Amino acid sequence: MAIGYLNGKIISSNDPVLPIDERGHQFGDGVYEVIRVYNGRAFMMAEHMDRFFKSAEAIKLNLGKSSGEILEIVHDLIERSGFRDCDVYMQATRGIAPRNHLFPNVPASISMTVKPSKYVDEEIRSNGAKVKLLPDERWQNCWIKSLNLLPNILAKQEAFEAGALEAVLIREGYITEGSSSNFFIVKNGEIWTAPATNHILHGITRIAVKEMASELGIPLREQAFTPDEMFAADEAFITSTTQEILPVVEADGQKIGDGKPGKVALKLYERFLEKI
Ligand SMILES: Cc1ncc(COP(=O)(O)O)c(C=O)c1O
Repeated sequence: MAIGYLNGKIISSNDPVLPIDERGHQFGDGVYEVIRVYNGRAFMMAEHMDRFFKSAEAIKLNLGKSSGEILEIVHDLIERSGFRDCDVYMQATRGIAPRNHLFPNVPASISMTVKPSKYVDEEIRSNGAKVKLLPDERWQNCWIKSLNLLPNILAKQEAFEAGALEAVLIREGYITEGSSSNFFIVKNGEIWTAPATNHILHGITRIAVKEMASELGIPLREQAFTPDEMFAADEAFITSTTQEILPVVEADGQKIGDGKPGKVALKLYERFLEKI
């Protein structure tokens, strides 16, 4: 059963429970995390918790709970849901207080949902994804997993309306990442991805790719690259917790490589399936 959690209470994920004066709702004043559960086990949980705490600290939000306490809640929710394969979303906001930009002196509000995993469409999984290149209109702190996703949402919608699965974002001439994924190219057997600066989210699946590339002996360079370099690449792929490792075969209507899912992406995905 899809299940929710709000500040100590187990709720149905559809219950209307957020007061109007909740700061996540009014200001987007909070951070979040998404964790995938495979066969009852949360994948790379330690890395997700680490990022959740770093994001909270970056916005000066005291979560009021230890990572052990949060883990306990997550495990309890997964068990109650009865799902073996599911996605856990957790949000932490600066609480419930009368509207005022200044920080209120109230506890953080923590909410979670556990729902069955959403998988990439079979056709796209087999044939690869199309992407659209768009300007990166986000702020300077994209490494914080902030609830403020408006530029990401607008870019994703624009890509969707153009028949693409993902928007791939460009800042000052260089590709940063996707609207909800990290972005990689493969050239002459080498994987390239933007360095983990403040301009990208430091993806957990990106960490898994770095580890797997090293295990498989595939060189990986954390180096910024341009759209021209992407079009000249042999292959491309995106990564995220929910999309896993997904080949990209076309950008702005132009083929990447031979327009088919690339060998390196498929090899990494095979390895990923073993890991999970
Ligand atoms: C902007 C952005 N970049 C990258 C990612 C991939 O991160 P992860 O692999 O931790 O899911 C996400 C995931 O939602 C994202 O929203």
